[in-house]
Amino acid sequence: MDIDYSKLKIPTHVGIIVDGNGRWAKERGLTRLQGHDAGFENMRKIALYIQSRGVKYLSLYIFSTENFKRAADEVGHLMSLFAVMGKRLIPEFMENNVKVVFSGRDDPLPEKVIKAREEMVAATANNTGCVVNFCMNYGGRAEIVDAVKKIIRAGEDPDSITEEVFHNYLYQDLPDVDLMIRTSGELRLSNFMLWQNSYAEFYFPKVKFPDFHEADFDQAIVEYTSRDRRFGNAKA
Ligand code: IPE
Ligand code: IPE
Ligand code: MG
Repeated sequence: MDIDYSKLKIPTHVGIIVDGNGRWAKERGLTRLQGHDAGFENMRKIALYIQSRGVKYLSLYIFSTENFKRAADEVGHLMSLFAVMGKRLIPEFMENNVKVVFSGRDDPLPEKVIKAREEMVAATANNTGCVVNFCMNYGGRAEIVDAVKKIIRAGEDPDSITEEVFHNYLYQDLPDVDLMIRTSGELRLSNFMLWQNSYAEFYFPKVKFPDFHEADFDQAIVEYTSRDRRFGNAKA
């Protein structure tokens, strides 16, 4: 399908729940671990493509607080991937002016992952293009609980707490999500950015993440362009 890009509305903040790596691998007689490797390779490519389409903020949900319940070999493999991802991503992100931030708790991430995370953030801190927010050991409820703790510790006056003030205590200062994409056909949030997705448009392509390519993202933008975002207002 030919797309007239000049007619598309480009969301400021796109969130992606990276899902279906395991099923993608199973369909091919591969291991779940190989599915995660394929997902990682695709993530590098699609992140740069999304930035090239003019998206300013991209949140990628790559590991939930609940994912620690998975088998030890799978968790271990993912942690090893996260520990080396900077080696691949830093040169590409520097070349493309991409800034990296992370959302999520430290505990119980292994030291090597925390170090890799810090390296990516430090290396790309002065980049001014798209911000890629990796949600790793991330939970939407955990983020809200952590914000409440910070508010209490800061001694805020309860009467001064507004939604804007609350926003300042979230993990990152990002605008609300405009378009939330979850690959693999699952129709749920699984604890992804509960606060920031309040008025997001949801899009659920059937394709599993390692097969979510440029044309699939374009399709998501075509769909997003057709949505009527009312934010509670009555239609004129
Ligand atoms: C997404 O793929 C990656 C992570 C959650 C880390 P899954 O591993 O959830 O793949 P499926 O859903 O089992 O196919
Ligand atoms: C959500 O996917 C978490 C990430 C993509 C990081 P899951 O595959 O863990 O979610 P459920 O278990 O299907 O809800
Ligand atoms: Mg899954």
